[in-house]
Amino acid sequence: MGATGALFLPFAAAETETTVTRKIPTTDWHPASWTSLPAAQQPSYPDQAELDRAVASLSRLPPIVTSWEVDALKDHIAKAQRGEAFVLQGGDCAETFDECTSENIVAKLKILLQMSLVMLYGLKKPVVRIGRMAGQYAKPRSADTETRDGKTLPSFRGDLVNRSGFSDADRVPEPDLILRGYERAALTLNFVRSLIDGGFADLHHPEYWDLGWVGHSPMADEYRSIVHSISESLDFLEVVLGREVHLAQRSEMYAAHEGLHLLYEQAQTRYLDRRGRWYNLTTHFPWIGMRTAMMDGAHVEYFRGISNPMGIKIGPGMSREWLQDLIRTLNPNNEPGRLTLIHRFGAKLIEEHLPDLITAVRETGSPVLWVCDPMHGNTESTASGVKTRRFDNIVSELESAFAVHQEMGSYLGGVHLELTGENVTECTGGARGLTDGDLARSYKSTVDPRLNYEQAMEVAMRIAGLRG
Ligand code: PEP
Ligand code: CO
Repeated sequence: MGATGALFLPFAAAETETTVTRKIPTTDWHPASWTSLPAAQQPSYPDQAELDRAVASLSRLPPIVTSWEVDALKDHIAKAQRGEAFVLQGGDCAETFDECTSENIVAKLKILLQMSLVMLYGLKKPVVRIGRMAGQYAKPRSADTETRDGKTLPSFRGDLVNRSGFSDADRVPEPDLILRGYERAALTLNFVRSLIDGGFADLHHPEYWDLGWVGHSPMADEYRSIVHSISESLDFLEVVLGREVHLAQRSEMYAAHEGLHLLYEQAQTRYLDRRGRWYNLTTHFPWIGMRTAMMDGAHVEYFRGISNPMGIKIGPGMSREWLQDLIRTLNPNNEPGRLTLIHRFGAKLIEEHLPDLITAVRETGSPVLWVCDPMHGNTESTASGVKTRRFDNIVSELESAFAVHQEMGSYLGGVHLELTGENVTECTGGARGLTDGDLARSYKSTVDPRLNYEQAMEVAMRIAGLRG
């Protein structure tokens, strides 16, 4: 692996204007400056000319998000940093092209809405919803190759890069897939926006969001009583105010993905004159994964130049000095809303590692939003080799995260979850007590195991302090 791709010149354009006065400042950063540094986790494309053509086509397409939305999310994150809001970030480990369907998108939106409703009710704070969606198509892998029955092939790196089947042809990275991924990302967000604009997220109609689980789940009564109580409060407020309260706004759902495939990210990185800044307009919120946060690596170089709010995943291998360097490089002006630290230590290690990093971050003077990802430090394999996560470990890491932040006088302002609105069996435990033996029944993820909708709702209720 190594840096890929030819140099593409800085691309400047407004989102709406067709004539642009180019006043791009001359700095040592530009959207392709990362190409001179080692880029981890990038595919090796066999045909450079084909790759160049695909990236050039991608850069000509309109953006998926706008800088207004990106800046609005930054303001919401700044509020969460001050303890005035809570962030719910969730979705698939990897979206797939096959699952870019109406049913799937609706189910994901519903589960995120239901969870945020429960959390809003329990935490008494606005909940900012960020989907791991509309572009979560590229995956980092722990090994470059995969061996099955004596045959070794390049690893599957997500639908943006190659295919999950196990043949030579499946695993060849194909440049065209970045265009297919971008189109699906746009279709996904377009549908989410339409649903929200059409009133799907309206608190007057929480029954639209029903996933069908309410009737059967052990938590059904609790959920129903929350919905009832919210409806009553809303009625009361409307009587007092003498008018309808409209809480459903545009762009109530923000999009996020791991900013892993740097040519994809670079192709939609635009300089906006009226703001005097560069934006990655493939998504509102890109994050740097655990495997690509090296200080001298291409990802940190790319991320330092864009003005989106961004996440950094941090785990047990992160030292205090490394984290401080990342913060100084990525947020040199201590800008509010800019940085979100998503910690994923695992239930066993969080208490050992987190306090020291909280102290290290304080020393930098940068505001950060602390978010707990209780998924990625708790992955294990069953005796028969199936990747899973135990519900109890997920909840235990979350409880420790709340406790450690509180003890340190810090604020845990969000959660980052891998979940689906479907009734899959990928994580064990939860109210239905799924066991290792249940996993085979409906295991769909090609990468990490996700909470199913009941397990996800149970996590939301635990967070809201309504259970246990
Ligand atoms: C992920 O979020 O799917 C992921 C790969 O996480 P991490 O970088 O924290 O391992
Ligand atoms: Co994952």
